[in-house]
Amino acid sequence: MCGIIGYIGNKQARDVVLKGLKRMEYRGYDSAGIALLNGGLHVTKCKGKVKALESLIDSKDEGFVGIGHTRWATHGEPNDVNSHPHTSNSGKIALVHNGIIENFNSLKQKLESEGYSFYSDTDTEVAVKLFESVLDKNPELSLEKAVQLALGQINGAYGFAIVHADFPDRIIVSRKGSPLLIGVGDGEMLIASDASAVAEYTDKVVYLDEGELAVIQKDSYQVLDSNDVELTKEVHELAVSLEEIEKGGFPHFMLKEIFEQPKTISDSLRGRLNPDLGTITLGGLSNVMDKLVNTKRIIIAACGTSWHSALFGEYLFEWLAKISVEVEYASEFRYRDPLINEGDVVFVISQSGETADTLAALRKAKEKGASVYGIVNVVGSSIARETDAGVYLHAGPEIGVASTKAFTGQVTVLTLIAVSLAIHKGVIEKAESDRIINALARIPSQVQSILDRSEQIKNIADLFTYAPNFLYLGRSFSFPVALEGALKLKEISYIHAEGYPAAEMKHGPIALIDDMMPVVVIAATKHTNDKMVSNIEEVKARKGRIISITSEKNQEVKELSEFNFTIPDTEDVLSPLLSVIPLQLLSYYVAVNRGANVDQPRNLAKSVTVE
Ligand code: M6R
Repeated sequence: MCGIIGYIGNKQARDVVLKGLKRMEYRGYDSAGIALLNGGLHVTKCKGKVKALESLIDSKDEGFVGIGHTRWATHGEPNDVNSHPHTSNSGKIALVHNGIIENFNSLKQKLESEGYSFYSDTDTEVAVKLFESVLDKNPELSLEKAVQLALGQINGAYGFAIVHADFPDRIIVSRKGSPLLIGVGDGEMLIASDASAVAEYTDKVVYLDEGELAVIQKDSYQVLDSNDVELTKEVHELAVSLEEIEKGGFPHFMLKEIFEQPKTISDSLRGRLNPDLGTITLGGLSNVMDKLVNTKRIIIAACGTSWHSALFGEYLFEWLAKISVEVEYASEFRYRDPLINEGDVVFVISQSGETADTLAALRKAKEKGASVYGIVNVVGSSIARETDAGVYLHAGPEIGVASTKAFTGQVTVLTLIAVSLAIHKGVIEKAESDRIINALARIPSQVQSILDRSEQIKNIADLFTYAPNFLYLGRSFSFPVALEGALKLKEISYIHAEGYPAAEMKHGPIALIDDMMPVVVIAATKHTNDKMVSNIEEVKARKGRIISITSEKNQEVKELSEFNFTIPDTEDVLSPLLSVIPLQLLSYYVAVNRGANVDQPRNLAKSVTVE
């Protein structure tokens, strides 16, 4: 949430910052702003997107040091005044912030009583006034020392980038709970909350850890821990290519990412799945496989789409690996007093690896003595670095706010883990694991065959574009898919949609069904087919409009449906990887028809780094 970028070097900071902000706009798009140092501090900011900011900046806005921000509002509505950067009363310090300062009210009162004036409704403004007050009281301090001293008074989460007109050779950054990295260039340095913003300039990055502060200069960076001790940080090689973070001819990132899935699923399988030998190798878990094999209980914590994958993981681990699983909303888990028994294993799932609640759930589980493993997409993210072991998705950057390829990547990785565990535990017949492994190897081409028929889904979308409600029903492995289909539709098209276990419909939602209600039925698992057929009949009896997703072999469901989209036949446990694709496309086409901003839906941001 909120994108932060900073530049110091020989280029015009304005150009680098604006470009970086555009790349990170998916992190927040309520307002944008930039501060440049050039013989003084020059701040430009406004409500709206980076484009609006760009139109306010002209070639006179020069300088080789700058910071920028794209905002997802927490405290204070999106308007020009609440936009970042925020400045000190002297007009010399500017800062951008990602996170929430929880004690901002008490700090504000104190600072006001000392004579500092406030203009915005944000929590952030207290930070810049606090840094100013520390410097006013201790004029002998360097900027970094003053910031370090002031940070001790701030409760909450932050990623800060700070510039000061009297210290024009440096940018100070610090993080606690919000991601920040340093892009290490040759005679130039960048800082950003996201690797996509620096990838164009360097492939060397240093990730800041919790509580660290860095002094960024043109030719050097110095990282200090909270006790002011200088640290030697590892320089990582960035594996993000420019191609991956551009639209590549597609009108939206979301559509590009949907169409990338044959490749991203293959990438998740590559080097791990061996159909010839009927084996699965997961390097990231090899050291902990014994622990996993012996565990009596797995807890999976996640948010949003990743929670839907987690729910699928529950069904899958129980079905194949015979392990008891509990799925938790990370936001609930972190504030409960969960009972963790010796030997329990906790998995956290996250595309971004930065979701605040998931990170907090991870820490809570560790605190309670659990081993915590990650299923993460973004390499080097906080969750990836804090887990004891894990498996990367290798899906590449996901820029569309609506998660698509990350979901199929998560489902693929969960399937690899479950089958591998089942094999290691000896609870699966070789014939069955061979069958699943071979079917898994066919999934990428089957996904492609679905995408090749995307026009059929578009035709259905055209008919239901203005439906006010949708119901999604599924059983067994198709239930998490129903939840995911409903979430996709509501988040990008703003249509109210609910996902339900098909049988639960009779306990309430059936009252909603009439001849105006589209009911998307995911009838993709053979072992629940008869029951799904009964549920379809129940909907039809009340004149609901059935749109079914089912295997090409399922004549019965096809005939019962008003609209049908077939998916290739596969194993029940793998069906979510196919059945979710038409649902992603349906939500995409409906949203486009409604003129919605598909990649940047209202009120949302890609990675939720505040709780
Ligand atoms: O990065 P994460 O997977 O941790 O993000 C979790 C959710 O915020 C995310 O899945 C969200 O629900 C998506 N917008 C759904 O499309």
